[in-house]
Amino acid sequence: MRKKIIAGNWKMNMNLPESISLISQIKNYNGAKTFKCDVILCPPFTSLDTARTLIKGSVFQLGAQNMHAAESGAFTGEISASMLKSVGCEYVILGHSERRTLFNETDNIINKKVLSALSSNLKPIFCVGETLEERKKGITFDIVKRQMAEGLKEVDLYGIKNIIIAYEPVWAIGTGKTATPAQAEEVHAFIRSLLKESFGQDISERIIIQYGGSVKPDNAKEILHQPNVDGALVGGACIKAESFLEIIKAC
Ligand code: PGA
Repeated sequence: MRKKIIAGNWKMNMNLPESISLISQIKNYNGAKTFKCDVILCPPFTSLDTARTLIKGSVFQLGAQNMHAAESGAFTGEISASMLKSVGCEYVILGHSERRTLFNETDNIINKKVLSALSSNLKPIFCVGETLEERKKGITFDIVKRQMAEGLKEVDLYGIKNIIIAYEPVWAIGTGKTATPAQAEEVHAFIRSLLKESFGQDISERIIIQYGGSVKPDNAKEILHQPNVDGALVGGACIKAESFLEIIKAC
């Protein structure tokens, strides 16, 4: 049995005081100790260090939303894997569709980041997913297969065990349109079959595949109940304590 993992991707929301207030509300929830799933908070860079202090000793874990592939150097404005580790991050979201489309991140760039994160003991939450146009053309599986093959190039048997895959259909992100549970399950099962081909049955059964794209309190239960859906990557609904907690409870 895979333990589900819910991650909250705050995106570019919440300044420091707002972050403190949100984390305090989530953390002080009475039932936090009895959550059936693991929970990762991914606030903006500017709140990571404070978040680390606030969640110390709680069930919550910390993740970042991006990083640069290089270890250090003349990359003005960038942040490395070891810097993220130094402020308590265990996870980093990589290959998010907003990074792919708005910041021109290619499969190759994402692959370099994945390898760099792994070598710093940071666990990638590696995102894949098709656009609406690609889905309409019937090439969803081709797109996901390419993103998996290119993004995970040179990832070995040890590395893959430290990766979470997030299936995020681009047309469902921030749009209020969710994939149906059947649509999600179909792609999740396909991703697991790709993992089996590359890494074997045992490992493929252990890897967490999250669904992301307009996950809300009222649709979370249905989606999370699918056999190959092992959690959610939540955007919009994670920056309000109430809705994020409802999604966690749906596990
Ligand atoms: P959303 O975002 O829940 O707002 O659709 C999900 C994501 O981008 O990870």
